[in-house]
Amino acid sequence: MKVTKICCIGAGYVGGPTMAVIAKKNPNLRVTVVDVNQDRIDAWNNPDVTNLPIYEPGLGDIIKETRGRNLFFSTEIDKTIDESEMIFISVNTPTKTYGKGKGMAADLKYVELCARNIAKVATTNKIVVEKSTLPVRTAQAIKSILDNTGSAVKFSILSNPEFLAEGTAIQDLLNPDRVLIGGESEEAIEVLANIYASWVPQDKILRTNVWSSELSKLTANAFLAQRISSINAISELCEKTEANVNEVAKAIGMDSRIGPKFLQASVGFGGSCFQKDILNLVYIARSYNLHAVADYWEQVTTFNDHQKRRFADHIVNTLYNTVSGKKIGFLGWAFKKDTNDTRESAAIYVADYLLNEQANISVYDPKVPAKKIQSDLNYLNTRSVSENEKQITTFNEPYAALKDTHAIAILTEWDEFKSYDWKKIYLNMKKPAFIFDGRNLLDKNKMIKIGFEYSSIGQ
Ligand code: UDX
Ligand code: UDX
Repeated sequence: MKVTKICCIGAGYVGGPTMAVIAKKNPNLRVTVVDVNQDRIDAWNNPDVTNLPIYEPGLGDIIKETRGRNLFFSTEIDKTIDESEMIFISVNTPTKTYGKGKGMAADLKYVELCARNIAKVATTNKIVVEKSTLPVRTAQAIKSILDNTGSAVKFSILSNPEFLAEGTAIQDLLNPDRVLIGGESEEAIEVLANIYASWVPQDKILRTNVWSSELSKLTANAFLAQRISSINAISELCEKTEANVNEVAKAIGMDSRIGPKFLQASVGFGGSCFQKDILNLVYIARSYNLHAVADYWEQVTTFNDHQKRRFADHIVNTLYNTVSGKKIGFLGWAFKKDTNDTRESAAIYVADYLLNEQANISVYDPKVPAKKIQSDLNYLNTRSVSENEKQITTFNEPYAALKDTHAIAILTEWDEFKSYDWKKIYLNMKKPAFIFDGRNLLDKNKMIKIGFEYSSIGQ
């Protein structure tokens, strides 16, 4: 099968950057990204690439190069599906908020809607590629929907999970550690492998069966998250024993069997994937009655909740057991630096806890707008919209956000925080002036020298 036109359903953090890089590296392929959300598509088509719907270093340049050449963004979903020989599904698969598996299982309704839509409009044979992270055996469900259309159209299903991390998406896509393609049809696998082979060496393109591919994605995220919970567990022990978690992380990371990455102690991991994928793994294990397996992995997210809670508790305890009416300045709201994504960000949960303790919070994040911060809190449904609006204020520059605060909490590791005029910030704060560095970002000795009461994670 020759592929000249591809379509991606879902213009999000995964679909957008991935298709941009595929289009850049395959100028002869026509790549169209479609989405039900008109505003999102309009933003992708904004002539000013600093206003794209997602912030990702390096993405703007690739969009400038490819958009209108062989990369297109559109809401014409049906037409684009039928014109394309290969269709990627990259829609969101959030944790279910209702019914069976509520709070644990992945909600596959959008994926199923996509499959049904493809089944409805396709008039020629298609290769359908799962890009969304899905529970093991979802391909089977997609296949069964597509195979029962009653038409003569043939579908091949591939699993091609994405391993990019936000904030480094473009680098991760340009230089992937590996590309994973799972499927039954060797022909379909090779068609997709050839698209990646335009820039990825063949020995990094792994071919597996569909189930291994689906499970590998969940497992990779579970292992990465487990490292963070492991170092965060040690961070709590360090605080009691006067060991320093940064020194411990460096010492163990130099063991080549352990390696240095993903050992940064923090206020807790966030992001759209880790928690969701682990809960998903736990749910699947339980559904096969593998309770020991489920309990083992569940502890990774349980500990992450503990770490966020512990950080918030420590702020309250240190501020003489009350933050009621006190102003706490938050630096950072995104779940990590170099992204405007806030899904599952530790900042949301720490803020919610402090708001329950009647704190007033002022926030500055270089890329997250006020509207998003309010909607993240409103989504939790802990208090009314007007109470959230009253208790939390967003600023578009840091010095105003931090003025007259009793304490500063660092929630995201944005580089710019390191180069602020910390002396000036100190002079404008209430005394004693506390810093709670949830990212071990600042220079501890320098902060203490200025006069701050400085505490960080695991030191
Ligand atoms: C999502 C999943 O969260 C992740 O598990 C998976 O690996 C890849 O897809 P992301 O791209 O970050 O990741 O999601 P998001 O930014 O929410 O984008 C999904 C897009 O799909 C949205 O723009 C949404 O409007 C669109 N969508 C959703 C459709 O076009 N049709 C639908 O039926 C549902
Ligand atoms: C993750 C996976 O890394 C990626 O391969 C997969 O495709 C999607 O999920 P992402 O969530 O975008 O990517 O970012 P990641 O860099 O993994 O960070 C996740 C969270 O862990 C962030 O909140 C980050 O701050 C935190 N983290 C990361 C730590 O607290 N310590 C670390 O050492 C590393």
